[in-house]
Amino acid sequence: MQRQRRARMKPDKRRMEQAYDNMAPEYDSTVGRGIRALMRQLLRNFNVGEAPVALDVACGTGISTFALIEKTGGKGEFHGVDISEGMLEVALRSAVAQGLKNVRFTKGDAENLDYPDAKFDIVISNMSLQFFPDKQRALSEMRRVLKPGGRLAVLFGAGPIYEEVWEVLGEVAAGRPEHPGFAASVEEIKAMHIGLEETEALMEGAGFVKTHVYARHRLVYYEPEFIIHYIPYAGCWKIALPEDALVEVVEELTERLTEAGTGKGFRSTWYVVLAYGIKP
Ligand SMILES: C[S@@+](CC[C@H](N)C(=O)[O-])C[C@H]1O[C@@H](n2cnc3c(N)ncnc32)[C@H](O)[C@@H]1O
Repeated sequence: MQRQRRARMKPDKRRMEQAYDNMAPEYDSTVGRGIRALMRQLLRNFNVGEAPVALDVACGTGISTFALIEKTGGKGEFHGVDISEGMLEVALRSAVAQGLKNVRFTKGDAENLDYPDAKFDIVISNMSLQFFPDKQRALSEMRRVLKPGGRLAVLFGAGPIYEEVWEVLGEVAAGRPEHPGFAASVEEIKAMHIGLEETEALMEGAGFVKTHVYARHRLVYYEPEFIIHYIPYAGCWKIALPEDALVEVVEELTERLTEAGTGKGFRSTWYVVLAYGIKP
């Protein structure tokens, strides 16, 4: 029953694209630091090799791509692909500002990568797999474009990430039946997260071997303003609401998250999965 409901509530690609187009100008200044910390975790035990041909799937504003480039000492050929033009514009500007000549950013969908088979030595994807409606297909595409022996590293929001936030958001959405898209988008967010076992099965199903899958989790304390405006998922539910309703919802959410908060902010679960594999 649970699985059937999940299947119906897959992330909507158009909604995702629009949400990230909206968030693009503020992405680096609001979540950039956290993303760089995640990239350090992802790359810590990842063999990037010598001057690799590398792909960053759902590269966003390029923070993940630039972290990879830094880890290789700048040597190699780097490609970033993302569904949001707004995010890619920021990535391109940053690459130019850094004088990088060996990186190319392209608009595209993780589930249909527009690259030939066996082009890349390494493929990475940071904090994005949760947003792909067909995760198996996206992972299979990543395997397809890797050379035999090529390596994959992915990190993404999983399991119970921010479940306390979605609970409050769900209650607020239930009080707005006149905007059914709001409740639907919250359900969509809740259902997009998979856990460790499912990740391992997907990696194997996509044809990766030597799969190493593990989770990192902790409690986080966020101010309501950060939750409402800056955790990236915000875009997904916000665009389901007309402007006047959004103002009211933000007020109600601020009140509820403040009331439920501790002195340190609203407490929530942070949970990410890291998965590594090799193409046989
Ligand atoms: C949280 S951001 C992560 C961006 C970047 N990897 C980073 O570490 O900062 C998630 C990204 O996934 C992209 N995205 C979502 N669905 C996608 C899809 N189906 N194909 C390609 N990109 C997608 C979004 O546009 C957004 O840029």
